Amino acid sequence: MPRLIVTDRAGNEHAIEARSGWSVMEAIRDAGMDELLALCGGCCSCATCHVHVDAEDFDRLGSRGPDEEDLLETSDHREPTSRLSCQVLMSEELDGLRVTIAPED
Ligand code: FES
Repeated sequence: MPRLIVTDRAGNEHAIEARSGWSVMEAIRDAGMDELLALCGGCCSCATCHVHVDAEDFDRLGSRGPDEEDLLETSDHREPTSRLSCQVLMSEELDGLRVTIAPED
């Protein structure tokens, strides 16, 4: 099972298991990290699952969809490596992916 490294808002790092085919948001939520609200449940309409991807890992991901782009535009904490974690599906190829939970908007 691929591993995901998540830094929470307090700066603590968590190594968690992430099932292939499931989203990064689901992996974080299932690990019990409740600061990632994911209010819309993963249907790309809330932006409360915002993460900053490690710069070295960003190019390993596919590109953002138009809805994801629009939602990220509304965030005060958007960075070049911002993603909505419900839109990133884990796979063996992404083993070791590093993300940081973005500050709350
Ligand atoms: S969970 Fe709502 S946009 Fe990702």
